[in-house]
Amino acid sequence: MYKNLCSRDADEWQFLENKRRNLLSDLKNLKSKDPELQKANSIRVLEFGVGPGVNLYCYPPNTRLIAVDINKFFEDIFMNNLKKYENITLEKFLITSARDLREIPSNSIDAVVCTYTFSSVDDQLEVAKEIKRVLAKGGKWYFYEMVGYQNRYYRLLQEALRPIWRIWFNNWRLGYNIRPILEKAGFTDITLDYFELKEVHFLAAPNVCGTAMKPE
Ligand SMILES: C[S@@+](CC[C@H](N)C(=O)[O-])C[C@H]1O[C@@H](n2cnc3c(N)ncnc32)[C@H](O)[C@@H]1O
Repeated sequence: MYKNLCSRDADEWQFLENKRRNLLSDLKNLKSKDPELQKANSIRVLEFGVGPGVNLYCYPPNTRLIAVDINKFFEDIFMNNLKKYENITLEKFLITSARDLREIPSNSIDAVVCTYTFSSVDDQLEVAKEIKRVLAKGGKWYFYEMVGYQNRYYRLLQEALRPIWRIWFNNWRLGYNIRPILEKAGFTDITLDYFELKEVHFLAAPNVCGTAMKPE
């Protein structure tokens, strides 16, 4: 069933890859808030739910990366994959929940990235607040997630099925709205690009990619 949920034809896969590349292509325009990194033309990025490192190919030259995943299983696969990317210096690989980034000082990160992860964290508001804490002022969070339908009736159906869906699909929270969570956590300049996929299960079709800023 999971395969049916996620299977995509080649065109749709390409469409998604283009969305990912476009979203993360903005990283190259960021200037670090850290004077030392700025001199070196470098930025510090934290990616949580990094998994095997599917986003690594989108990172700009001189990226200093802190990789976070709750699951140790991915560490070796990620490390192996990382060898292909000389433009990335790994500062840390943390096995922890994004809800608890106590090893990361406040205001120290230029950009946070997460893809297909925020929908399955336990407490979304607490994670969003933790992301805001570690981001430097003016720093940006880039995300790409499955969300709720804009159509009210489809959304109600997603909400009704959410509890059982979470049990079936490893905590995946069906049909949630990301904007109020970001606003409540104190992010501004929120951009959301909403789209619906065709080649996945109807309930998993709505996706969003977007950015949110920690105010200056
Ligand atoms: C669906 S995978 C997505 C992997 C990758 N980002 C991608 O786009 O394919 C979700 C990842 O998030 C991790 N994860 C789940 N909850 C997490 C949390 N609270 N904090 C950090 N990582 C988490 C999982 O271990 C897994 O690697």
